[in-house]
Amino acid sequence: MWRLAGQTIVIVGGTSGLGLSSALACQAAGARLVVVGRDDSHLPAARSALGPDVRVLAGDATEPDTAPHAIRTALDAFGGFHGLYHVAGGSGRRFGDGPLHELSDAGWEATLQLNLTSVFYSNRAAARQFLAQGTGGVVLNLASVLAFSPSPEHFASHAYAAAKAAILGLVRSAASFYAPRQIRFNVLAPGLIATPMSERAQSDAVIRQFIRTKQPLDGGRIGQPTDLDAAVVFFLSDEARFVTGQCLAVDGGWSVSEGRENSRARGGAGVSPAAPCGAGVSPAVPCGAGVSPAHPSDVCPPVDPPSGSSPSSLPASPLPHPPRHSSPPPLP
Ligand SMILES: NC(=O)c1ccc[n+]([C@@H]2O[C@H](COP(=O)([O-])OP(=O)(O)OC[C@H]3O[C@@H](n4cnc5c(N)ncnc54)[C@H](OP(=O)(O)O)[C@@H]3O)[C@@H](O)[C@H]2O)c1
Repeated sequence: MWRLAGQTIVIVGGTSGLGLSSALACQAAGARLVVVGRDDSHLPAARSALGPDVRVLAGDATEPDTAPHAIRTALDAFGGFHGLYHVAGGSGRRFGDGPLHELSDAGWEATLQLNLTSVFYSNRAAARQFLAQGTGGVVLNLASVLAFSPSPEHFASHAYAAAKAAILGLVRSAASFYAPRQIRFNVLAPGLIATPMSERAQSDAVIRQFIRTKQPLDGGRIGQPTDLDAAVVFFLSDEARFVTGQCLAVDGGWSVSEGRENSRARGGAGVSPAAPCGAGVSPAVPCGAGVSPAHPSDVCPPVDPPSGSSPSSLPASPLPHPPRHSSPPPLP
């Protein structure tokens, strides 16, 4: 089905992993494509996978001119610009990202630059072009489940999580502002997916075991880039013409799973700690609505014990504090 026939899409971060997979899917759906990657050495493989009809450009998404240049290329080569998919981003650990108390100033800055400022640059360029054209358009961004569903034991990367959560805020605000102009903004939130970015996590046996219960769908596995393809094509296509400001988690069940194989056996009821204080899903807040606090006492008011009982008779929390890692494992 040619769901993107006649559409010209720019994919920022489309030369490997999730971006390349979605580029192939968009191409199969009939789109004309401009794809941007940062590393020159990855471009030939992307060109070979995508063929001569796709414009594959080198450019750094953290530079403000990269996305405008890609959009101009789309206009020059294909005579139009209809959609942007921003994928570029990655772990900030090499910059110094980590748990808050260990996070360096430079790590914070560089991680936000890569994962948030780059999104600002590309989304702004797309919005400006749609307004200049006087047309509608579509912007799709890539966040992460870590924006709203943390994993303190295995993925303590707080600048990365903050950047990805900020994308949700940007998407909601921009969707609201630009809806009357027919410009849609949506966001995808993947769980752990097998791409070059997540190679270190994939090779960690403890994380692979964790994923068996944290992403229990389809047998309990790490995702494949193709797992997101249908969602990407949908959001970019006219079939999503009535959808904006939404976040779709494509995560194998990560954001609704505890990832603890034996929690019931240990006495845990398998219930999110957010539930008792009514922090349930709010339709006003996508994706992050089910955010679970690190511990119920972080957000819940104290609960009076039943009459006749003393606080000391209350059951202990079924959620043990995670072991502290001086050096957390690698991030997705
Ligand atoms: N894999 C996961 O488990 C996972 C989970 C949640 C979210 N994500 C998100 O998915 C995105 C990464 O995709 P991926 O997992 O497929 O990783 P990937 O294989 O490393 O692909 C990243 C793509 O983005 C490009 N890119 C990265 N930084 C760029 C920059 N500054 N300027 C231009 N292009 C840039 C890369 O190009 P080069 O190869 O040339 O650098 C590549 O084409 C990130 O936004 C990440 O936060 C991934």
